[in-house]
Amino acid sequence: MIEEERLVAETRITADDNENVLRPRVMSDYIGQEKIKSNLNVFMTSACKRGEALDHVLLYGPPGLGKTTLSHIIANEMNAEIRVTSGPAIERAGDLAAILTGLQKNSILFIDEIHRLNHTVEEILYPAMEDYALDMVLGKGPSARTIRLTLPHFTLIGATTKAGMLSAPLRDRFGVICRLEIYKPEELAIIIGRSAGILHIDIEKEAALEIARRSRGTPRIANRLLRRLRDFAEFEDSPTLTLAIAKKGLNLLEVDDLGLDKTDISILKTIIDKFDGGPVGLETIAASSGEEVNTIEDVYEPFLLQLGFITRTPRGRVCLRRAYEHLGYPVPRKEITLLDGLNDTDES
Ligand SMILES: Nc1ncnc2c1ncn2[C@@H]1O[C@H](COP(=O)(O)OP(=O)(O)OP(=O)(O)O)[C@@H](O)[C@H]1O
Ligand SMILES: [Mg+2]
Repeated sequence: MIEEERLVAETRITADDNENVLRPRVMSDYIGQEKIKSNLNVFMTSACKRGEALDHVLLYGPPGLGKTTLSHIIANEMNAEIRVTSGPAIERAGDLAAILTGLQKNSILFIDEIHRLNHTVEEILYPAMEDYALDMVLGKGPSARTIRLTLPHFTLIGATTKAGMLSAPLRDRFGVICRLEIYKPEELAIIIGRSAGILHIDIEKEAALEIARRSRGTPRIANRLLRRLRDFAEFEDSPTLTLAIAKKGLNLLEVDDLGLDKTDISILKTIIDKFDGGPVGLETIAASSGEEVNTIEDVYEPFLLQLGFITRTPRGRVCLRRAYEHLGYPVPRKEITLLDGLNDTDES
């Protein structure tokens, strides 16, 4: 399925989602993630008191949870200039060297998808992060020599959806490592209320909560559903986005009670119908359901894991009792005893 068609996709869709309008700019507008916010607040305040740059920060978690947003808020709160780039955009060591030498004291360098930095580029980053130094080789062959340039004290903020793919030396150089959590419906309802205000949408409290419940714990999805449902309200000439309109719209959009869409259901059915509930490898699921391995792993699986619908075992993915119940399938006897004892063994 093409990404554009998938309304509940966590990933960015460029078409109609002008995310910037809804992106909070200050910490007080950034809802949820309380632990991260209070920790960052301590680190930011003390860095400011000492007049130093904030320690390097790694933000990780599934798409759409607010990593990019938080990075910009940090820059804003620190009153610092922010340079934005991404792992795949930095192809050669020289590209990174150019970026680093252009930084000022206390600047923030935001590298999105940092797990996609290539190895030679990553090696430049080690001394830069640790010693604020840039080692450059001048000349070639026997006459080549290395000179060390001193860099201004900057803060690197790295964001990734795949912390497991980060090399250990890189991960170890981050002083602050934050894992963003999936949001609670009450938090998403606040985010929806705020977005509705910005977009001049009049929305019932219950409608906001209903959308929140079906947004897979992800602000990006909550905002996207809000925009789509506004269309339904407009279509019905209703000045208010009511609970009834929200429910009707969500059903028409084929987003179910838990926020699962056709693709989630098809993945679950593939595991159950074709592979007896698993264990079955990710590649096999991908091949049988027509989705990409990466898409399943990054977009669909985290939420299904979170719901306790599937689990990872050393031999592959297994559907759990709740998935059977949600689909209205009888729970097979052998699975009841076998599956309930299985644990999530693979963290990556
Ligand atoms: N805590 C929050 N409070 C309010 N709105 C939020 C929050 N987190 C995210 N959002 C909203 O969700 C949208 C997506 O967030 P963001 O782009 O920061 O996600 P991300 O983690 O960087 O995703 P990706 O991994 O795809 O880059 C933002 O435009 C913002 O409007
Ligand atoms: Mg981002």
